[in-house]
Amino acid sequence: MPESGKIEITVQLGKRSYPIRLGSGTLPELGPALQPLGFEKRIALISNPTVYALYGQTVLDSLTRAGFDVTLIKIPDGEEYKNLLWTEFIYGELLKARLERGSCLVALGGGVIGDITGFCAATYMRGIRFVQVPTTLLAQVDSSVGGKTGVNHPLGKNMIGAFWQPSLVWADTSVLNSLPAREFAAGMAEVIKYGVIRDKTFFEYLEKESGPIKKLAPGNLMHIIKRSCEIKAEVVGLDERESGLRAVLNYGHTIAHAVETLTNYKKYLHGEAVAIGMCAEAKIAVKRGLLAAADHERIKALAAAYDLPAGLPDGLISDQDLIQAMLMDKKVQSARIRAVLPVGIGEVRMETLSDSDFYKL
Ligand SMILES: NC(=O)c1ccc[n+]([C@@H]2O[C@H](COP(=O)([O-])OP(=O)(O)OC[C@H]3O[C@@H](n4cnc5c(N)ncnc54)[C@H](O)[C@@H]3O)[C@@H](O)[C@H]2O)c1
Repeated sequence: MPESGKIEITVQLGKRSYPIRLGSGTLPELGPALQPLGFEKRIALISNPTVYALYGQTVLDSLTRAGFDVTLIKIPDGEEYKNLLWTEFIYGELLKARLERGSCLVALGGGVIGDITGFCAATYMRGIRFVQVPTTLLAQVDSSVGGKTGVNHPLGKNMIGAFWQPSLVWADTSVLNSLPAREFAAGMAEVIKYGVIRDKTFFEYLEKESGPIKKLAPGNLMHIIKRSCEIKAEVVGLDERESGLRAVLNYGHTIAHAVETLTNYKKYLHGEAVAIGMCAEAKIAVKRGLLAAADHERIKALAAAYDLPAGLPDGLISDQDLIQAMLMDKKVQSARIRAVLPVGIGEVRMETLSDSDFYKL
């Protein structure tokens, strides 16, 4: 069921509810879309040189034409700049431009730009509003929605942060045409995750339509982003601060974070590590008798169909190293490793793991 036209999904959070607007070729319409939101005239556009070179002028023109006085702030491209040093740089630019409590920050970029901009918005002048304009698949289906903002600390990734919801998510799917294929595949890992945790029909759609999706057929692209955002919006709406249900979104991530740490964040993109984690956690579920072996095979086959790794690489990481890295994770409670395991396609359950689960993984 390919989708077309413009789509709006609401993240239902009472007074903090906000729309996700999906469309193709909609960047030039961003300015008018911000007008009714009641921001001050002075706003800031935050991006990196890679994304700005592709889409910055279009966005800047649209905002300026809509009457905004825009301060442009660029930070270098890369995860290593999502830190407190560059947060302070952004604060400095905002102060120099005299942005006020009624001002707004616009994040134009992938998850790195979205996370640091959101964190600046959460903390500048005790909190100002911000708008997400996600430009990677991962950001459109995951990081721009849900209000987790933050930066890295030398001692750990995403260790400094805040829950701070955007006022609007404006996703233009046409920008994905310039995304490197490896980045697109990494975003697909999160899309597959939504199928496994909550929607068997969606999983089957991803199996059947891998050809057109990988070719970025507009209708298919719109459908997978829409369904992913619907699932994320539903889960976040029920459990904003991850006191329970929201943890299902971490399927694949317990092992993914350990793999990323053990490979110094260099060998794999986040989504690739998530694909490894989803396949490995499904294998644990099979070993525990919770999941049919055939479903584990389907998850692996789907990851492979989207050019993602389908399990831990042989000999790269020992089970003891994996366990140690997981014990360091911020989600570990009282030295117990908990993970979301699939019990079928479309259904997951939280389980406490033991060392033996990691044997010959
Ligand atoms: N807040 C959350 O809930 C959440 C969830 C998942 C991930 N994250 C965070 O997201 C970050 C990863 O995000 P990402 O995968 O988007 O990576 P990214 O932001 O580093 O973007 C990947 C690369 O693609 C480039 N790029 C972006 N859009 C492009 C486009 N349209 N065309 C060409 N190039 C483009 C970027 O400049 C960058 O080089 C991590 O820091 C992770 O911690 C946050």
